[in-house]
Amino acid sequence: MTDRPFSEYAERNGSPILDVLRYEFDRCSRALEIGSGTGQHAVRFADALTHLTWQTSDVDKNHPGIRAWVTSSGLANLLPPLSLDVRHTSLPALTYDAVYSANTAHIMSIDAVNCMFELVGTTLLAGGTFCLYGPFRQGGEFNASSNAKFHASLRAQNPEMGIRPIEDLDEFGRGHDLIRSRLYAMPANNHIAVWHKETK
Ligand SMILES: C[S@@+](CC[C@H](N)C(=O)[O-])C[C@H]1O[C@@H](n2cnc3c(N)ncnc32)[C@H](O)[C@@H]1O
Repeated sequence: MTDRPFSEYAERNGSPILDVLRYEFDRCSRALEIGSGTGQHAVRFADALTHLTWQTSDVDKNHPGIRAWVTSSGLANLLPPLSLDVRHTSLPALTYDAVYSANTAHIMSIDAVNCMFELVGTTLLAGGTFCLYGPFRQGGEFNASSNAKFHASLRAQNPEMGIRPIEDLDEFGRGHDLIRSRLYAMPANNHIAVWHKETK
């Protein structure tokens, strides 16, 4: 059996993220996570938010690790990963009332980020909630010098990666019926942005 991969960051930021999800996903029942990574967040949140069925997903190379976490958790409300590359995969329409993703927007290319918003807009039910955790820029500025350095290091690794302006994400959202309602300041100069699917 595959060893469970471990991220110190995912361990550390889990509790403050959970506090926000408790509130934002309070009335939800079906959650999709995009880019589950190690699978640690999925186990932690499915264990705490028992009213949710938590669907993990990621690109295929991360599936063995996510499966290892899902299997060892024994949680009945935690589902093994969907094969999901936001650039190529389609999702069934109007299926989830909650979508969560962490630390993905600065890793994906900007076109892939737009694809993620398109997928979220398609698969969320009207009134559903999308929570995106990570570092963002606002008003053309980084909120900390550490984030400016992080952005530069991402760009040096791959010019398609980088910390995204929240205004660009809002524009992608509007293109897919997603309107931002909140922006939570989180530890270590991160944020959680929350969009809701318009009820038409
Ligand atoms: C920095 S990791 C974050 C993992 C986890 N969410 C966390 O916070 O610990 C970025 C994640 O985005 C996923 N990802 C990158 N490009 C993707 C794409 N095109 N479609 C879906 N997931 C993608 C990676 O596979 C990885 O799991």
